[in-house]
Amino acid sequence: MDIKALISQMTLEEKCGLLSGHDFWHTKPIERLGIPACMVSDGPHGLRKQDMEADHLGMNDSIEAVCMPAACATAASFDRDLIYRMGEAIGSSCQHERLSVVLGPAVNIKRSPLCGRNFEYFSEDPYLAGEMSASFINGVQSKNVGTSIKHFAANNQEHRRMSSSSNVDERTLREIYFPAFETSVKKAQPWTVMCSYNRINGVYASEDPWLLTEVLRDEWGFEGYVVSDWGAVSDRVEGVAAGLDLEMPASGGHNDRKVMKAVQDGLLPEVVVDQAVERILRINYKYLENAKPETPWDKEADHLLSAKIAGDCMVLLKNNGVLPLNKTDDIAFIGEFAVKPRFQGGGSSHIHCFKTTSALEAAEGLHITYAQGYSVKDDVATPEMIAEAVEAARNAKVAVIFAGLPDSYESEGYDRTHMGMPPCQNALIEAVAAANPNTVVVLHNGSPVEMPWVDKVAAVLEAYLGGQAVGIATVNVLFGDVNPCGRLPETFPKKLSDNPSYLYYGGEGNEADYREGIFVGYRYYDKKDMEVLFPFGHGLSYTTFAYSNLRLSASEITDQDTLTATVTVKNTGLRAGKTVVQLYTGRKQSDAVIRADRELKGFEKVELQPGEEKDVSFLLDKRSFAYWNDEIGDWHVESGRYNIEIGQSSRDLVLSAGVEIRSTVKIPTYYTMDTIFMDLMADPAAVEALGPILDAIKKALTPGSEDTSEAAAEAITAEMNLAMMNYMPLRGILSFGGGAIPPEAVEAILDKLNNA
Ligand code: BGC
Repeated sequence: MDIKALISQMTLEEKCGLLSGHDFWHTKPIERLGIPACMVSDGPHGLRKQDMEADHLGMNDSIEAVCMPAACATAASFDRDLIYRMGEAIGSSCQHERLSVVLGPAVNIKRSPLCGRNFEYFSEDPYLAGEMSASFINGVQSKNVGTSIKHFAANNQEHRRMSSSSNVDERTLREIYFPAFETSVKKAQPWTVMCSYNRINGVYASEDPWLLTEVLRDEWGFEGYVVSDWGAVSDRVEGVAAGLDLEMPASGGHNDRKVMKAVQDGLLPEVVVDQAVERILRINYKYLENAKPETPWDKEADHLLSAKIAGDCMVLLKNNGVLPLNKTDDIAFIGEFAVKPRFQGGGSSHIHCFKTTSALEAAEGLHITYAQGYSVKDDVATPEMIAEAVEAARNAKVAVIFAGLPDSYESEGYDRTHMGMPPCQNALIEAVAAANPNTVVVLHNGSPVEMPWVDKVAAVLEAYLGGQAVGIATVNVLFGDVNPCGRLPETFPKKLSDNPSYLYYGGEGNEADYREGIFVGYRYYDKKDMEVLFPFGHGLSYTTFAYSNLRLSASEITDQDTLTATVTVKNTGLRAGKTVVQLYTGRKQSDAVIRADRELKGFEKVELQPGEEKDVSFLLDKRSFAYWNDEIGDWHVESGRYNIEIGQSSRDLVLSAGVEIRSTVKIPTYYTMDTIFMDLMADPAAVEALGPILDAIKKALTPGSEDTSEAAAEAITAEMNLAMMNYMPLRGILSFGGGAIPPEAVEAILDKLNNA
């Protein structure tokens, strides 16, 4: 389709009209020119296609579809291929349902365990979130339908989500809140990007030219269209100028007319409108020209795929050996979630499942007794329910309690207020664990919970929100048909107040200050050397692995080079299993900026038979070591020595090696009489130019130059003197130099240095 020719035939009114939706889910058709409407739909972990009454909060019914595991779970797989396959399945169902774009993935960083939407997001770590997101997008888009990566950007709370300003410094945005978007654009080129509701440093994301044009398009190379989150538009004209192409759903024509008037009044160049129209049409025709509604959608096959994915996402948090269970033993399944699992979250991602399989159904044929334990609806565990559960536990070899958060506890639209589980469930777990030491807890939740009973139970399996077939996956893992291989994509702190954002999360009124900066998740807990309940990257297996022989392709590189790190991994146990080899880089001492001790910069999921061993390699580049330097507005690697650590979690680091990196970039410096000695001494050029002067000042300031008494020499040692000197500004020569050095001479040298 010759899009430019098409646009040239459109009236200004038609063009402005095309910049907002036809209805809740369609772009506008222009019948006169044969331009069809295109449909989009939520997202992200299955289709919520609404053919009937539309709403964006999942309240009205949508077509029957397949609910795959939510992002909280899929991130735990640390498995790029797996999430790619999930993307392929969702892409095919989009083709079948004539959808041009599925609204996902959602990649916002989990800043606090409280965010109501954490279940829909991947991780507290930007590298993991970016890798999983890019693979998902590539999977969906391999079927010639688009994705809408969301919510761009810094949308980390639901509280006041449509008015709040996320106040974040640029370095933190670049290092923590942007990379999942950046990586996805660079590795997968999502067809669309959805801007978020919130403001960033005071400016609505929907009208921020820096965000939507400078960073997203000019720097990262995004080629598709930007769509507003549903209802995120405040000033539409500003939005069009900033790079927000499509407003969804629509404003009843109000905003389209405003855009048209702005063009007519000469306030908005028509070419800007043309450009937005072109971007929307290019994506729509990319779909239309590749539409394949004849694509089959085998929901039963997707149900089984969903079970397979969920199995590879489960995280075995604790196991004293009680798991895997024996299929011939008598087992008690306790808790309503055993028959009605919680497997998805509330809001716009809520899917109308064509079927679900509970753990009790999946365990048919095994020796299971069931006790309800608690009522989700009434949020109670009555004495009778607890007595029945305790009785069942006593008569069984192992008691498995299905627990977690009810729907009302976490959802789009509002945040949690605490990190606790329902008290009735905690009480049930305590009672059952007291009756049977072989008590296992299976958790269904989208975000970390406190576990006051953790030392009293034999095992804990984190199932997250594992999709409609979660029951199959749970039984497979419990009984050992699947060897658990998930790893935590977030830290489970011991208590909420340990979390770095605790003091500021939610903000004051509409101002949410991200005062913890880059210290999100394990970056904070590690730096503080704080005990956590379960660390980032943690997860057990029914087999054991040994990591050995870490070798680097070089011991010294420049910031322009790449480096390969290779490690040997062996399955040292008796079962086949998968491990996630994690690579962290870090620099303990940084002169320029405060940095985290370690940051995830590589991971590989490896499957090994008993006794089998494989080499795993990671390619590292400048970004693997860099921080965002505000002065140069770019990534920068300070010269010096960096650690490379390999482990099975962020707290189980078994191998390490060092590499010396030399920076090829000179950070511009500007010296004045206020520059302190320490900063001058760090620059060889300054030392050379100012050398004699610095010596003279040092001498003038050295005790004993006048007072030669022993006492004076003893009182101030040479080190103390030097330490004090370090912080002395150059202008100190006026006060302390005894007039020996004319300031004009120093200024002349500074001029020369600054202009070199
Ligand atoms: C959500 C988006 C969603 C959209 C359409 C909004 O409320 O924030 O994630 O895609 O509605 O349902």
